[in-house]
Amino acid sequence: MDVTVREVPGPEGITAARTLPAAWYSNPAHFEAEIQNVWRRQWLCIGDESDMPAAGAWRAIVAGGLPVLLVRDKQGALRAFLNVCRHRAAPLCEPGDDGSGSLISCPYHAWLYRLDGSLARAHGVGEPEGFDTADFSLKPLGLATWRRWVFLHADDAAKAPHFGPMAAAIAGYPVEAMHLVLSESHERPFNWKVLLENYSENYHTPFVHPEIDTSSSHDYPMLADGLTLYAWDRPLRPTTDAGVRMATLLPGEPGWEELGSAPTAVPYDVGSYLTLWPNLMLNVFPDASLAMWMEPLSANRTVVHRRLYAHPGADADAVAAQVSAHRLVHLQDIDICASVQRTHDAGVNADGVLATVEERGVFFVHQHIRRAMGDAAQ
Ligand code: FES
Ligand SMILES: [Fe+2]
Repeated sequence: MDVTVREVPGPEGITAARTLPAAWYSNPAHFEAEIQNVWRRQWLCIGDESDMPAAGAWRAIVAGGLPVLLVRDKQGALRAFLNVCRHRAAPLCEPGDDGSGSLISCPYHAWLYRLDGSLARAHGVGEPEGFDTADFSLKPLGLATWRRWVFLHADDAAKAPHFGPMAAAIAGYPVEAMHLVLSESHERPFNWKVLLENYSENYHTPFVHPEIDTSSSHDYPMLADGLTLYAWDRPLRPTTDAGVRMATLLPGEPGWEELGSAPTAVPYDVGSYLTLWPNLMLNVFPDASLAMWMEPLSANRTVVHRRLYAHPGADADAVAAQVSAHRLVHLQDIDICASVQRTHDAGVNADGVLATVEERGVFFVHQHIRRAMGDAAQ
């Protein structure tokens, strides 16, 4: 019997931690400060690669409140620009809309841009003093791909994203080769942090998700490093041949794949869970993977995108069971998050504490938001 026991230290400071005030989830001024201090300063997940435009096409999105135009040139290079015409600020394309061709035409006065963002022609502009089309390209934004997800940074000079060693824990997991089996995006009635907190703890699972079997002595180690929070199930279960098996293997470590054949057919029984600050949540199971990312609309409205992936050739019934299990769990989380948001919207503070082991992930979220807000939160 292989037994690996890994020491997982708790974070310093959690015993003195208190919950965040209601205003941090409901006040429009606080929300705007978060946009500036978090969403405009971090790499944001903006989609799966399959959400990106094809060669010679573009698509408008909103990311961290910014109007963004994603453009793939005919050679296949993907770029991101502010979706703002350099004449008088018209959007080149409405959010959610697509276009294709050799030139992008502004709908207002028909200035034309190439797919590399440069201004090709400023129709009828006359002779503004010092005007040179070379100075009026679309403003570029940072863009990078990690695994199969695309990330955007509001600062075009930003370095490549680095999510830290915990993100490498799923290096051996073949998510790029998996097939997309569910794609959903919904506007939800809560602040983005409410869902991030919910995702980052397992404390609520027996109560909010009673159908998930937590009776098998699960442990739930959790590590935080930089922008990444990483948690994983450590099932302690009888096996047919070896009595009891305790598995504390990071995905990609030798033997981890065996967990896929652990004696369980119960969704959420064996998994790894990554939170990439501030907006990507990633579940990695032996037979499926679920990615969720968020776009904040206001203090109490958030778009939640979900994508579920399965291995090629996966049994259709098993995939359907995964889809319905994940949908049920997600909707249960959505309901409790919406309820919590109603308290925040009423301006009532819980003045609470955090469970010192179970809510290490909530502490991770709070540390990041407190650090990012600094004086802006006063
Ligand atoms: S605003 Fe785009 S051409 Fe005038
Ligand atoms: Fe949950």
